[in-house]
Amino acid sequence: MTLPGDGSELPLVDLADPGLWQDPAAALAPAREAASLARTSRGERVVLRYAETERLLADPRMRTVGARLLEGVGVTDGPLADWWRLVMFNTNPPEHGRLRSLVSRAFTPRQVETLRPRVRAIAATRIAPLLDAGPVDFEAAVADPLPIAVTCELLGLPEETWGVVGTWTAELGKVFATRLSDAQRLRCEGAVDGLNDLLRDQFSSRRRTPRADLLTALSEASEAGDRLSPEECAAMAINLLFAGHDTTRGLLSIGFAALLRHEEAVARLRSDRARVPAAVEEMLRFEPPTLGSLRAPAEDLETSEGHILPRGIPVHFLFPGGNRDPRAFPSPDRFDLDRDGPRPLSFGLGPHFCLGAGLARMEAQELVHAVLDATGAAEIAMEPRLVPFATIRRFESGLHLRLVSA
Ligand code: HEM
Repeated sequence: MTLPGDGSELPLVDLADPGLWQDPAAALAPAREAASLARTSRGERVVLRYAETERLLADPRMRTVGARLLEGVGVTDGPLADWWRLVMFNTNPPEHGRLRSLVSRAFTPRQVETLRPRVRAIAATRIAPLLDAGPVDFEAAVADPLPIAVTCELLGLPEETWGVVGTWTAELGKVFATRLSDAQRLRCEGAVDGLNDLLRDQFSSRRRTPRADLLTALSEASEAGDRLSPEECAAMAINLLFAGHDTTRGLLSIGFAALLRHEEAVARLRSDRARVPAAVEEMLRFEPPTLGSLRAPAEDLETSEGHILPRGIPVHFLFPGGNRDPRAFPSPDRFDLDRDGPRPLSFGLGPHFCLGAGLARMEAQELVHAVLDATGAAEIAMEPRLVPFATIRRFESGLHLRLVSA
């Protein structure tokens, strides 16, 4: 017997259903349309509508519960837990503002624009060998290495380290799942140890010889003592490397596949490049690279329809729900290059809104331009599948495309 107000009257979202992870937009639609709030089998709450997500994620009483993300897969101590505790995303105001202000200057629109030509050049160089080569793994050749190169370059890591950094950050991304094997946990811990060792060397070289890069800026903030401890400094660098990799790879592979499935959109882009930013917004909306955000209210809160969100009970904001909410996006299942409505939820909202959103958008725009420049036709050669239970979404075995030269 369940009590009124415990959420049992709400529609159920079954996070253990592998089908939800293949096509979350379709799986979440019935619950979103049945009520403004849903629940998981553990009694946690689920927000699926756009306006409610927007309102609640901006509410300062909604606190991050980052530690629970790792506790949920059994990680409570060791190098992973030690790193995760220091990450900006796990802090709440005023601590959060202190950390964020130290790095936000590196992500201004002007800074992002200075990287644009370099991103276009990297994308073009990586695409060239794939042309007329039959089915090729576009993810392995372009969508994965491109964001690693961009964040490593932004931080100032030497090119010979990019390969191993990418391997480590990809391992780290796998911890954000609803299931984690012991073997995977060990690989994730090895990745944090490897990144910490590498960064310790890099920071000590910046102290000897400062450069015009983000690692130097972080190291100087660390030397100012009261601003950033050396441990926070390393945690921040790892945070940026990790946050910029898997997520952006998801946009450049899962999102790009969504674009390619809409041939009429691709054809229009070939003759109207001004719509490329709109195409990237639709890629983000159709296939958000991360499934959502997790918060818990610091006190009982009421939703706009009068449901109670009990204090401390986690609330999942699942972006594929809000991104296809017909109240915010008319004909939500249409890939529409002419939308002028709200922005997709895929970068989150509120104080933790993605710091790298502008950078990721620019990378995706440049990737689309580079493919259009180089090809006369681009098509999916083998329908990809998504890994179930991975909150940072990824394909099981890459994205195989056929690219025909222009
Ligand atoms: C398509 C690519 C990306 C997606 C979909 C994405 C998604 C997100 C989301 C949803 C959040 C908020 C999480 C929450 O509130 O629960 C977030 C936060 C964050 N992202 Fe991204 N991200 C992307 C790329 C990047 C890049 C390129 C960087 C930097 C190099 C970055 C750095 C961060 C940081 C530092 C935070 C934490 C901000 C804070 O706590 O104040 N992200 N991202």
